[in-house]
Amino acid sequence: MENVVKVRGSGIAQHRIMATLFYEPSTRTRLSFETAMLRLGGEIISETGVEFSSITKGERLEDTARIIGGYADIIAIRSNKQGDAAKIAAHAGVPVINAGDGAGEHPTQSLLDAYTINQHFSLGTEKISVAFVGDLRYGRTVHSLTTLLRNFPDISLHFVAPNELQIPDSYFQSGDTKHESLNEVLGKVQVIYNTRIQKERFESPERYEFLKDSYVFNIETVAKMRSDAILLHPLPRLGEIAPEVDELPQAKYFEEAQNGVYVRMALIEWCLGL
Ligand code: NCD
Repeated sequence: MENVVKVRGSGIAQHRIMATLFYEPSTRTRLSFETAMLRLGGEIISETGVEFSSITKGERLEDTARIIGGYADIIAIRSNKQGDAAKIAAHAGVPVINAGDGAGEHPTQSLLDAYTINQHFSLGTEKISVAFVGDLRYGRTVHSLTTLLRNFPDISLHFVAPNELQIPDSYFQSGDTKHESLNEVLGKVQVIYNTRIQKERFESPERYEFLKDSYVFNIETVAKMRSDAILLHPLPRLGEIAPEVDELPQAKYFEEAQNGVYVRMALIEWCLGL
């Protein structure tokens, strides 16, 4: 798909329509889905902001799903409730892609994360250690990437978070490690997957303020990473990665976001059976 984009796209999805339903804030995910569909020659209909949706009038998500499934050939949905994507999928009658459901999962982000990791290391043939850092409790990208990486042999997973934001038990397995201190893993792992503390999921604003700067990557932090290590982040980043890090060779998060277009193009093509 990188090559397809270089030759200005393809017409393989001509006359196909993708509906993007984004009921939670998004920049990268929605626009990269839409770019992906357009690069394949398809069309887009979009609903952003739940306040403009009939859901706000009280419509059941199941009904919305049936209606949109009648308009579009494929749906990408983001919402603030775990399980919403599955509900839409059960009623739409067309392929449905979960673009993030609350603090649940974000599987397409994991595909592009894994794609990016694989550009630097060889998934499945090489021993790779990955440290997840930040909000592992509410960070849905962490939940999905953990699950995806377990499909490969020789991956070791390490979870660095304040106690109350540690990885939920359902995503933790024996052999994994948990840490509160970043220094315990910083110089040892090949991949650091840093994440934003998910402000919108906190009940207490004070708790968020207290935890938000738990781990900050600056030039000094990155200097302690292995020389071959890479730093990923699903973005948006707030204070957890200083802008001075962006130009360092370890910083791969902008490439990671760019990869979202290629990976989503491939996924759309596959979902539509093209
Ligand atoms: C993530 C998300 O929405 O879960 N962003 C994204 O899709 N790239 C991460 C986040 O919001 O922190």
